[in-house]
This record gives sequence, C-alpha cells and structure tokens, in this order.
Amino acid sequence: PEFDLVIRHGTVATASDVFAADIGIIGGQVAALGRALGPGAKEIDATGKLVLPGGVDTHTHIEEPRGGPTVNADSFASGTASAAAGGTTTVIGFARQARGGSMAAGVAEHHERAKSARIDYSFHMVLTDPRPEVLAQELPKLVESGHRSFKIFLTYEGARISDAEALQVLATARRLGALTCIHAENHELIDFYTKALLAAGLDRPKHHAWAKPMIVERECVNRVAAMAEALDVPIQVFHVSGGEAAEEIERAQQRGVQVWGETCTQYLVFTADDLDRPGFEGAKWLCSPAPRSTADQAALWEMIRRGVIQNVTSDHAPTRYAGPDGKSAVGLDAPFTRIPNGVPGLAARLPVLFSEGVVKGRIDLPTFVSITATHAAKLFGLHPRKGTIAVGSDADIAIWDPQKKVTLTAALMQDANDHTPYEGMEVTGWPETTLVRGVTVVDQGKVLAPPGFGQFLPRGPYEMIQPRGVFPGPFNPVDGVAV
Ligand code: URP
Ligand code: ZN
Ligand code: ZN
Ligand code: ZN
Repeated sequence: PEFDLVIRHGTVATASDVFAADIGIIGGQVAALGRALGPGAKEIDATGKLVLPGGVDTHTHIEEPRGGPTVNADSFASGTASAAAGGTTTVIGFARQARGGSMAAGVAEHHERAKSARIDYSFHMVLTDPRPEVLAQELPKLVESGHRSFKIFLTYEGARISDAEALQVLATARRLGALTCIHAENHELIDFYTKALLAAGLDRPKHHAWAKPMIVERECVNRVAAMAEALDVPIQVFHVSGGEAAEEIERAQQRGVQVWGETCTQYLVFTADDLDRPGFEGAKWLCSPAPRSTADQAALWEMIRRGVIQNVTSDHAPTRYAGPDGKSAVGLDAPFTRIPNGVPGLAARLPVLFSEGVVKGRIDLPTFVSITATHAAKLFGLHPRKGTIAVGSDADIAIWDPQKKVTLTAALMQDANDHTPYEGMEVTGWPETTLVRGVTVVDQGKVLAPPGFGQFLPRGPYEMIQPRGVFPGPFNPVDGVAV
C-alpha cells in the first residue's frame, strides 16, 4: 500500500478552506491530500463526515496539586482521555512554581505527572514567585528546553504576583522570546467587594459573581494591555468573559499592541444566573472570571467574528462535587470564598462550540477550526506541526458526524469528575473518531490510546511573538537603550 492510512471521501476543513479530499498518512504525518488517493494499509471511510484538525486546548488544569481541602479530579490519563473523547488532540497544562521554590523543580515534577498523558502536551510555566534568580538563571534554560510560555495571576492569594513583578516577568519574556498569559482581575477590588459582601452576610455561590463584576476584569485587562504596550511585549489575556473586557483588548489591538484574547466555552453558554441554584448546586458553575450575562455572550461571539478573540479554550479545572476531596469537602454551607474555582470542560468544548457556533450560524466552519485549533497552535509555537491538516503536519484529526444529536452527560465527558455543568445540553455534531499522529485514540466513545502514548511538545522560537520594536516613548526600558 501507498499509505499507512487513508481517510477517504470526507469533507476536510481548515482555518481557511472547506474541501472534499482523501487524506493519506505515512509515519503519523499527513503525506497527501487529494481525490482518489492510492491504497492505505488501513482505510477509514469518512463519507458524509467532516474531517477536522484535532482540537488544541491551550488552557487546561490537569493533575495540578492544590494546597487546600479539595483536589484536581483528573490525572493526565483521565484528563487526556476526556480531551480525546471530545476531539481534542493537544493540550497545554500548567507547571507551577511553589512560592519560595524553583520553577525548574515545578517543571520537573509536572513532567513526571504528564507521563500518563494519552495525547500530546506542552506546559505553561506558572510563575508565583518571580525572584531575580528565577528570572535570570532558571527561565533561560527552561525556555531553551521548550517551555516557551509563562502564566501569571494578578489575583488569588497564593498565586498572585504584584504589578512590579509582572513587569519583570514581561521583560524576561521579551528577552527570551516567550509568551506570557495573564489572569487579569483587579485583586484589591475583589478583596474590597468580598469583605463587604461577607460583612453583609452575602456568601452564597451566586455572590461570587457579585464579588467580581465586570469592572474588576475590565480595569485589569486595560492595565495589562498598558504593560504590554510599554514594554513592547506580546501577551495573551486569559478567559475574557464579556463585552467590556473584550473592548479593552480591541482598543489595544487597534493601537497595534500585541494583545491576544482568549475566552472559554463556559462564558459563551452560562450566565451569573447559573450560580443561583438551590442550595450548594451553584458551586458547579463557580469559576473566575464569573459567568456574566446573555448580552456578554452575544458580545463574545461578535468579538470572535471580528477576530478580537481568536482562541476559545476550556480552562478545564475539575473538582468533583461530592465524595472525597470534592467541592463538598469545603462544606455544603461554605461561603463562596472557600469554593474552589473552575469548571470541567475538556470534552464539551468542541461539541458545544460546533453546535452553538457553526450549527446555529454564529460562525462558519473555518472560524470554528481557527478558534479551536489553528490559532492556538500558531500563538503557542506548535504550528504547522499541530492545529491544521496539511502535508507534513501531524495527522491529528477528528472525524465528525455533523448531524449527530447528543445530550451531554458527565459519563460522556470521560474525565474523572462526577458532574459536568453541561449536563443535559443538547448538541448537534459529534467527533466520533479522534486520531493523534495517525493512530486512532478514540473511536465511537471508546478510548483506545494507553496512558503514555502522549508526547511532550517542546516549543522553539517562532515569528508570531516577535516584538514590534515600537515603544510609547523614546526609550526601550527592557534593554535600557534609546530607540
Ligand atoms: O476559575 C477558574 N478559572 N479556575 C481555574 C484557574 C484559573 O483561574 O484559570
Ligand atoms: Zn474515492
Ligand atoms: Zn485564570
Ligand atoms: Zn485557568
């Protein structure tokens, strides 16, 4: 046979095109795209199916240790099973530095955990304590070995860093050619709201959204965009939750600042009302930023169509609801301040975005491919190996039945959680077969890839995050030279 595998008679979509083609795969890579390709040792008939690049989810919290009474429900084995079950073939997780500890140690420990991954993966490095020696001595080596993105938090006790530290991280990112992702919410304002809420006896899950209204996000997005502009360094703003924050990004982009916006599935389908369910139930929807309004959902779709927001991730952050170390471990009457933040969503991401986006006519198919795979791969230096279907790319492919109607359930998610906030949601379109490097990792809901099949993806230097060489004044403060 000419090929190891031929996927025949499908409709292929990329971020720029939709076309009928067979795909010939050799050695785990796409070797040919065309009509009537020669025989494969194995063949998949994709008649009536869509053949799309596997999803690239660049914001996933998998098997991250936590300090508190609850645990991240997923291991790399379960988290990546869930990803693959939902048509995602690459994940980027988070290797975290302990306060007072070394970033290199955090990365080494996370490599150990990730050995059970079933699909390919990379890491963002979470800098919780960017001391000068960490920035100057550890990061150059870590970036050189392929850990080419940073994550910083400007809120959350235990993770947040100061603006002064954020500027040092951004300057380091510019020098090393790394991309910084930012959790942008105004910490002091959240703190002020929170204390006032608790003093007023308003501590139910729904008051989480009261403690962080859009203004805390809008202000901080504006602030980090100014930092990026002042230092001439690209950033990605994580989990933009609504119109006003997206407008800040759009304004910065219009000034030429390299600010990329990410939103997450949950902000397109949930609202603050979801936190307001009987008893403790609303805790299942508690995430940061908080879910907002239907007007914000509409604004986010519009910002996706305008290209202001280019990447939609899951921010998969799984905590079981019941049982040992679940959200209930904090107590069913716990104030919102003690409920772990985050929702699970790795497997739901693509089906929900396909159904709510493409099927409902909010976005076209190439835009779907772009926001779920191609742009993320480009922004994080994984393209063209990942995020597209092209000759030479890894054969990371999801074969979709675009008509299939599915009711989402926790069991379908195939993670280690005990609930999904998407429970009961009806979607049209389902990724029935997922391939990583030409190997079928999920077929008809059955996870076939063993733990350890996934490979670490080191990321080298790439053009997209080259700074512009444009500063707001006559001085380049990163290199200390006049421009
Ligand atoms: O609520 C969220 N998003 N939890 C996960 C951690 C983060 O802030 O991204
Ligand atoms: Zn044919
Ligand atoms: Zn965050
Ligand atoms: Zn996150």
